[in-house]
Amino acid sequence: MEIRESRPIDRSAIEALYPAAFPDEDLLPIVRALFATESGVLSLAGMTDAVLVGHVVFTCCDIDSRENIAALLGPLAVSPDHQREGIGRALIYEGFRKLRNTSVRQVHVLGDPAYYGRFGFEPCNTVEPPYELPDDWQGAWQATCLYENERVLNGQLGVPECWRDRSLWAP
Ligand SMILES: CC(C)(COP(=O)(O)OP(=O)(O)OC[C@H]1O[C@@H](n2cnc3c(N)ncnc32)[C@H](O)[C@@H]1OP(=O)(O)O)[C@@H](O)C(=O)NCCC(=O)NCCS
Repeated sequence: MEIRESRPIDRSAIEALYPAAFPDEDLLPIVRALFATESGVLSLAGMTDAVLVGHVVFTCCDIDSRENIAALLGPLAVSPDHQREGIGRALIYEGFRKLRNTSVRQVHVLGDPAYYGRFGFEPCNTVEPPYELPDDWQGAWQATCLYENERVLNGQLGVPECWRDRSLWAP
């Protein structure tokens, strides 16, 4: 599998991927809003034989006044025909590798700890998400540092406009 930054030509395949991977959730509004965001968005496509089989987005975020010091991972999807083949893992680690060439030092995610815990994510109570999470989602708010021997910074995560939608942060 090849991983590369997504291109405008991938858009229809990406828009078909999310409903297939998440039949009970409509992630297309945030995916489209991320496409429309002009900077600070890393969008990676996993390609097998020129077919798009996975996609992930990392959005650069601030923590208090520290600009672009963090990234938010999501959404992430792998084609149902190719799940559990290591594609999600490869997309996440390629994102981490690329982010190490930027000012980003830590990555946040709101997702299943059983999955994201495999990539070093741990529950995070030092950085507040943009909206208060329901109690039963607290453990889903996680973070990891991109560098060894660093600790997750404290503060409030400042997200770009596309993520300032309370419905994205609640069931
Ligand atoms: C969740 C998803 C992104 C994972 O991508 P993937 O390419 O299938 O995952 P990988 O093959 O990279 O899996 C890496 C490891 O996580 C495990 N894993 C995969 N999906 C998992 C899940 N939903 N929960 C827990 N562990 C999972 C794999 O078994 C693998 O384990 P290993 O390291 O012991 O081999 C993908 O399956 C997907 O798009 N699913 C649809 C939506 C969904 O289920 N979301 C809920 C979870 S966030």
